[in-house]
Amino acid sequence: MSALLLAGKPAADALLERLKPDIKKLDPKLVVVQVGEDPASSSYIKQKMKSCEAVGMRHEHLHLDAAISKEKLFEEIDQLNNDSDVTGFIVQLPLPSHLQEFVPDVIKAIDPKKDVDGFGAYNLGKMFLSTEFEHLPPATPSGIIELLNFYKIDPAGKHVVVVGRSNIVGKPIAVMLLNRDATVTITHSKTKDLVSLTKQADILIAAVGKPHLITADMVKPGVVIIDVGMNRTEDGKLVGDCDFDSLEKIASAITPVPGGVGPLTVASLMRNCVTAKKRQMEV
Ligand SMILES: NC(=O)c1ccc[n+]([C@@H]2O[C@H](COP(=O)([O-])OP(=O)(O)OC[C@H]3O[C@@H](n4cnc5c(N)ncnc54)[C@H](OP(=O)(O)O)[C@@H]3O)[C@@H](O)[C@H]2O)c1
Repeated sequence: MSALLLAGKPAADALLERLKPDIKKLDPKLVVVQVGEDPASSSYIKQKMKSCEAVGMRHEHLHLDAAISKEKLFEEIDQLNNDSDVTGFIVQLPLPSHLQEFVPDVIKAIDPKKDVDGFGAYNLGKMFLSTEFEHLPPATPSGIIELLNFYKIDPAGKHVVVVGRSNIVGKPIAVMLLNRDATVTITHSKTKDLVSLTKQADILIAAVGKPHLITADMVKPGVVIIDVGMNRTEDGKLVGDCDFDSLEKIASAITPVPGGVGPLTVASLMRNCVTAKKRQMEV
């Protein structure tokens, strides 16, 4: 069996196309804050800026010195919160080591109305309630939902096994799918007998950060594989958490890495900017 390739680009392009009229009308502006020079962050930000250009969304890359103090960083966040021209902003993670312990405070400092990454408690809490309240959901889980919709994979009644329980991917995608009538199992590093659970999955979502953790002998035939992982190998290649070559022979559908979930994360961020602008105008 050869799996259907769940390419992210056509799904992301379709979403961006749908956003264009609102972008033209509402003229939102996205600011991406980068602290320091993390190469992976630089590459993700480049993709976000490129996507903004492609859809005609105003954008700014606010690049701050790696040695910036905590106080100065919070001042910058305050300014963005108070700048009425800025619709939404994100602080690209990870932060340099001296600021890493303040990540929860940084997320908390972002005005929920401008929290287009959807990482803050207010937006996560709303997403928790029901699909109706997913106003600014976290971009990657929201992108996974978009990908499933695009390829007409209905999670209702399916057993979804999520590997990873981070606040930005694992936990929110589990809740978003639960709210779409999936039966969800969440697993993590302390899970006993992971394989007995992954073998039950109709849809398996891997968000771990360990190259090729999920292999063909861990799943049942016909499974849908959504690989969120982005891992840089020693030779500079980007690989997922799933062993694509063995899994594509047994899965019914599988995302590639790169080119699967990644483009949808970016497109979902654009959608959040549009939603944020609409809601700000209503207020
Ligand atoms: N494509 C995209 O747009 C996108 C967006 C975001 C992230 N990512 C990628 O997705 C991956 C995960 O990101 P994240 O931010 O969610 O990572 P994270 O915060 O490091 O969380 C990793 C999760 O994996 C679990 N885990 C670790 N080893 C495990 C094992 N052997 N078996 C089962 N679970 C295990 C951890 O369990 P504990 O909680 O017990 O430690 C944790 O819950 C990374 O590769 C990241 O680069 C991609």
